[in-house]
Amino acid sequence: MALKGAWDAIEAQPKAADNVDIFWRCVSSYFHLFVCTGPTCSQEGAEETLHLLQKNLKDKKTQGRVRVTLCRCLGQCGNGPNMVIYPEGTWYAHLDEAGIEQIVREHLGEGKIVARLLHDPVD
Ligand code: FES
Repeated sequence: MALKGAWDAIEAQPKAADNVDIFWRCVSSYFHLFVCTGPTCSQEGAEETLHLLQKNLKDKKTQGRVRVTLCRCLGQCGNGPNMVIYPEGTWYAHLDEAGIEQIVREHLGEGKIVARLLHDPVD
């Protein structure tokens, strides 16, 4: 019964194109970073990467626009430290200090992909 009520509420929403635009503006102003702190990435410097990321995010005042979640393994061991950024699903590997600064400045700040750190994840 509760599910049917929720579905009815969704169905009652207007289907205008305006809603798509509003939705897109909401998600495009919000990044969710998944940072691997699993065993292999930890050996490759994940903790330092995370510390640098937190410092850069604080310095750039991205609070409220960026959420960081730690993961135990992103399934890309050996390429670490690894991170994936949503909503677009951009994978970055071999993160280093310069890379973290560049990702925060360019990807999160200007919406530009940092090509030199891009990673094509293997399934
Ligand atoms: S431990 Fe980081 S990808 Fe597996």
